[in-house]
Amino acid sequence: MQVKDSVFVITGGGRGLGRAMAENLAKQGAKLALIDLDQDTLNEAAASCAELGGEGRGYVCNITDESAVENTFAQIKADFGKINGLVNNAGLMRDGMLIKVKDGQLVAKMGLDQFQSVVNVNMTGSFLCGREAASIMAVQGEGGVIVNISSVSRAGNMGQTNYSATKAAVATMVTSWAGELARHGIRVGGIAPGVIATEMTAQMKPEAIERMVSAVPVRRLGEVEEMAHTLQYIIENEFFTGRIIEMDGGLRI
Ligand SMILES: NC(=O)c1ccc[n+]([C@@H]2O[C@H](COP(=O)([O-])OP(=O)(O)OC[C@H]3O[C@@H](n4cnc5c(N)ncnc54)[C@H](O)[C@@H]3O)[C@@H](O)[C@H]2O)c1
Repeated sequence: MQVKDSVFVITGGGRGLGRAMAENLAKQGAKLALIDLDQDTLNEAAASCAELGGEGRGYVCNITDESAVENTFAQIKADFGKINGLVNNAGLMRDGMLIKVKDGQLVAKMGLDQFQSVVNVNMTGSFLCGREAASIMAVQGEGGVIVNISSVSRAGNMGQTNYSATKAAVATMVTSWAGELARHGIRVGGIAPGVIATEMTAQMKPEAIERMVSAVPVRRLGEVEEMAHTLQYIIENEFFTGRIIEMDGGLRI
């Protein structure tokens, strides 16, 4: 698929990786529909896409709300006339141990809300947005592409029962959807990043970064531009579907 003049929906597009991936596509003349929770960050991200040579519009939508997602995708289709791709990028992390025991006594358990809130955004939100994007693209009849953002944590990671489960879930959706949607010319891929340098990692203590980096064979964090490059590869390569690209510098957890 060519990037120029195509319309891409990016969830969590207001900041971080979502915004960086949007800006890279905007530089090449893409039209971006950015979904996120906060109007101000969306306005900034959309303006940046426009400055870079693309088109950008922000849509406030909580992706865990079924009718809000349905209405937002219908609105995007009405505003741009078409949808060519979706990046299921919005995500939430609420880390914690399954149980905590001190001196032989149970002192804490991961709460159902802590588990369910991450499931709602990362898994259910990706399902809802994937379903709406696929519904529109299949009827449009011009094919399309969906990319789910998973994580190296999908293999299972201590302290991330909730997050890891959802990142494994969105990876399986890549395989399921690639099989189901191929008949409509819709390709589905995934990216499983390791640790990428964002505003979040910039706030971490240098020792904490050093500890993380020591486990990465290339001995550095990934760059947002490298994520953007990987997304572009999936969009442009018409033989790519049903697979996940591991973007982790060789990290294994
Ligand atoms: N940064 C990394 O190192 C890294 C590594 C592996 C995977 N990932 C994944 O990449 C994606 C982006 O990560 P990031 O670092 O940019 O995170 P981030 O927290 O900076 O951005 C996530 C965005 O999603 C939005 N969002 C959260 N809940 C939402 C909801 N209910 N509805 C709509 N929008 C919602 C947030 O407002 C935010 O703008 C996530 O799925 C994350 O799990 C990131």
